[in-house]
Formats: sequence, C-alpha cells, structure tokens
Amino acid sequence: MASIALHNIRKSYGTLSVIHGVDVDIEDGEFIVLVGPSGCGKSTLLRMIAGLETISDGRLSIGGRMVNDLPSKERDIAMVFQSYALYPHLTVAENMGFSLKLRGTSKDEIGRRVQSAAKILALEPYLDRHPRHLSGGQRQRVAMGRAIVRDPEVFLFDEPLSNLDAKLRVAMRAEIKELHQRLKITTVYVTHDQTEAMTMADRIVVMRDGIVEQIGTPLEIYDHPATTFVAGFIGMPAMNLLQGRIQADAPSIFRTNSGVAIPLSRHPGTAGPGEELIYGIRPEQFLIADQGTPAKIVVVEPTGAETQVVAQIGEENVNMLFRERIAVRPGDTIRFTLRAAGEHLFSAATGRRLPEVGARSRRFP
Ligand SMILES: Nc1ncnc2c1ncn2[C@@H]1O[C@H](COP(=O)(O)OP(=O)(O)OP(=O)(O)O)[C@@H](O)[C@H]1O
Ligand SMILES: [Mg+2]
Repeated sequence: MASIALHNIRKSYGTLSVIHGVDVDIEDGEFIVLVGPSGCGKSTLLRMIAGLETISDGRLSIGGRMVNDLPSKERDIAMVFQSYALYPHLTVAENMGFSLKLRGTSKDEIGRRVQSAAKILALEPYLDRHPRHLSGGQRQRVAMGRAIVRDPEVFLFDEPLSNLDAKLRVAMRAEIKELHQRLKITTVYVTHDQTEAMTMADRIVVMRDGIVEQIGTPLEIYDHPATTFVAGFIGMPAMNLLQGRIQADAPSIFRTNSGVAIPLSRHPGTAGPGEELIYGIRPEQFLIADQGTPAKIVVVEPTGAETQVVAQIGEENVNMLFRERIAVRPGDTIRFTLRAAGEHLFSAATGRRLPEVGARSRRFP
C-alpha cells in the first residue's frame, strides 16, 4: 500500500499541452475517482501514474519515493482497462496467473494466489473456462483478478465498467467498492460517469481541460461545488444555473435576467452591488406549494420512484425532481417554493462560487 503525490504535474505532446499543472495528494488506502468530460486528461494522468506515459514536468511520488523516471514494471502498480484484453486461448486461471508466470513466480505460489483471488471475486467455478464462455461481468472480474494476484501497492482503473450494460455496471460498481473496503489498496479510478464517481469515491477529483476544478468528498462536491462547471457536471438531472443579479433594493431577492424574482434564504455574502451572478438550484430543491413563484410545466417524466419535470420560469427552462407522485401535465401552471438554504451563488464573470457567510460558512479542507 502506498500514498501517491502529484505535484504540479504537466504533460505536453510536442507543443500541445494537455495537463497544465495538477496537484493531488492521495492518502494510503484511499479510493480516488478522477472524473471529467471526454478529453480532459483523465487517462493521460492515470497513465503517467502507471509509468506508461512520460511526465513533462512536476513531481510524482508513490509511497514517498519520487518515481518520475522509474519504469512502469518497477512501480508495483496494477491497472485495469476498459477493454479487458484477456488472452482468448488461456483459461481463467491461466489468464489470472500470466503476469506472475512472466515474473518467474513458482507454480505453487501462482496457484495459491489465483485461488485466493478467485475466491475474493467468486470466480472459483470458472477457473478452467475460456474467456469466450464467460459473461461480460465475469470477464471484468477476471481482469480484476489479474490485477489482484499481483498484490500491488496501487490499483489503477480506467473506465473499467463502460463496456457493461447498466444493471451489471451497478453490480460491479458495488463489487469494486466492496473489494476496496476489504483490501484497502490505494486506488485511482477514472470515469466520465458522475454517478460512479459519487457512489465509489472517498474523494473525487473533478477535471476539466487538463486542470483540477475541485477535490473533495462526494458530498462536499455535491453540496459546495466550487465552480459552475462542477455544479453542472455533478448531479443528475443537472443543477439549474440561472443568470441574473441581486435586486438592488431587496438584498434577499435574486432577479433573473428574464425578470423572475427568487427569494434567497441567505444573504449573498460578497456579491458587489449589481454584480452579474449565477444562481444555482438543484432539481430536488423545488417544492410544490399553494403560493409561490409560478412555473409552466413543459415536460413530465415519471420514473416510478420519482417524477422529473421540465418547467418554464420566465424565459428559462428548469429541471425539477419530485419524490412524490404529482398530478401535473404539460401546459399546467404550478407554484413552487424552495427548500431552505438550497441555493448556490457563483460569480458570472469567473464562474467561481461566492464565499458563504453566516451559518452556512463551513469551509471544507
Ligand atoms: N499521444 C497523444 N498525442 C497527442 N495528443 C494526445 C495524445 N494522447 C492524448 N492526447 C490528447 O490529450 C487530451 C487528453 O486525453 P485523455 O485520453 O487523457 O482524455 P480523457 O479524459 O481520458 O478522455 P476520455 O474520457 O475520452 O477517455 C486529449 O485532448 C487528447 O486528444
Ligand atoms: Mg480516457
């Protein structure tokens, strides 16, 4: 097991710079998820940790030792990719033991480790099968088994579940998390799926265009997104972001650009007079009420457990999410209020969250 420290890590391909100075300190035994849109540099960063990609600048340490120039095979890391790339002509047991065989590990030791990994992953009944006779989820587990038998200091995963169907993905997500709780091996897991990030991570690193936007626990990031980008990226349906400003003669009212007045449940701290702001509100913060702000229903999507609604407020469409069943149809007008203290305010100029004041000024590390 080992900690991992990335200090001012940069990567360029020729003159093209793709990672612009990333700092992340990963604790021993931590489960870190790198999340962000396609092309933001997640795989590049992971491959630099693995030693599969050179580091253009900065300092990478694993277990307190600088490893910038240490070859991949000397880093004691096991990596699981999206494509499992199992050897089709080898059995499950042979696939799992292959890297140990290359290293010259004794037959007995290989057998022992493969058995132990197969037990952890519930693969014992399949050890003599070939990969083509396995389901996608079982193949995925063999790929993890191959990593586990190496007993590495660090696990790296790059979108390991993207090839699986939705149901299996949820099941494997739980399995990987459970495995981590059992083995406590430092893990860096890459995904572009914010639900995977939220459910699996001890801490999430949100990336965008080669920089880190925010690092925090899933709930810190959900409750206190540092930027409008993070606010819009984490959460499904996405947070509503409405542009406008604090009403000059009524500091507890946010006035959207299309003229709708939304009452604020806290004083908006450091916003300057007339400053252009972005008001963020999550879909689940809306409550239907007899009195309140009117909204016109555009789309109703019942999922069974909850009802998603798109409604028009002024000129803007907003997402609302109700846990209870509601009898509304497109074209209806509802009135809504908001749960207390559910709002987020950002500077429109910088996209950064306004410092919070008063009772909710808790800062995270
Ligand atoms: N060998 C390369 N040469 C030039 N540019 C590259 C190379 N590899 C990656 N890039 C660029 O680096 C950027 C980051 O790529 P990377 O694969 O790390 O993204 P990602 O976040 O993993 O995306 P995805 O979610 O699509 O896998 C992209 O703009 C990509 O085009
Ligand atoms: Mg990638």
